[in-house]
Amino acid sequence: MEELIKNQHIIDELSRKLKVVTRYKPFQLSIAIKGYSDKIITHYSEFIKNDIRDICQQAEIPYALNFNNFGLIISFKTACELDLHSQDMVLDNNLKELIAEFGTIVFRNAYLVSNIKELYHRNNFPHLNFHTDRGEIHDNKYSFYTRDPFDEEQQYPRKASTIFIDNAVAYLQSHVEKSLRENEKGRRSHYSIFKHEGKEKETFGKLILEQPWTEPQGIGEICMIDNQSVLHSSYKHGLDHGYRIGARYLS
Ligand SMILES: [Fe+2]
Repeated sequence: MEELIKNQHIIDELSRKLKVVTRYKPFQLSIAIKGYSDKIITHYSEFIKNDIRDICQQAEIPYALNFNNFGLIISFKTACELDLHSQDMVLDNNLKELIAEFGTIVFRNAYLVSNIKELYHRNNFPHLNFHTDRGEIHDNKYSFYTRDPFDEEQQYPRKASTIFIDNAVAYLQSHVEKSLRENEKGRRSHYSIFKHEGKEKETFGKLILEQPWTEPQGIGEICMIDNQSVLHSSYKHGLDHGYRIGARYLS
């Protein structure tokens, strides 16, 4: 589960990359799932005989098992206003580097500067269905989700979460559930995997990264991925489907 980064050398290195957007505001750094690719390999080795890396390679799954550590969480001590992308919707370069390394980046206790704050639409996917928001044809491949602490609705914790996986998990889980086509190659844009019946929760923090959106009232949250390397889904915990979260796409 979520683990605070304590190694000062790693903290310094990450802080250097973050300083353009954080402007030296104090924060703590955590990793959502440590040893992610190893965890995926260990889990699926129980169900699949062949070498897990070979299987993903042969199936031409892009970015498969790319993340040693999945999900970098930046938690500010006091609420922080951030300028994370340009008005013409280009994501900060340092964040792109961090997304390439950690797959998912989460900012807690943060909100966007006023000139870009409203550049979003509201979205809420109805059920457990891992998918990509942007395809090959799109240039803006980064998905960027927000919970605005000043918004009438979004200021409250949300009852539904957003979940993220490595492309390899989608393919390997489909393999285990026997829903692959014969000699299927490449990554699909949608996967119906992990029946929503409770058992899938055991894989949270291991195969699945959950962004719960449950920080207290008035605490902003921001989360981003590259649709090429990570798939996502909405996840409902009960009957309340949650409000629509802020979504935007960036280059
Ligand atoms: Fe989506």
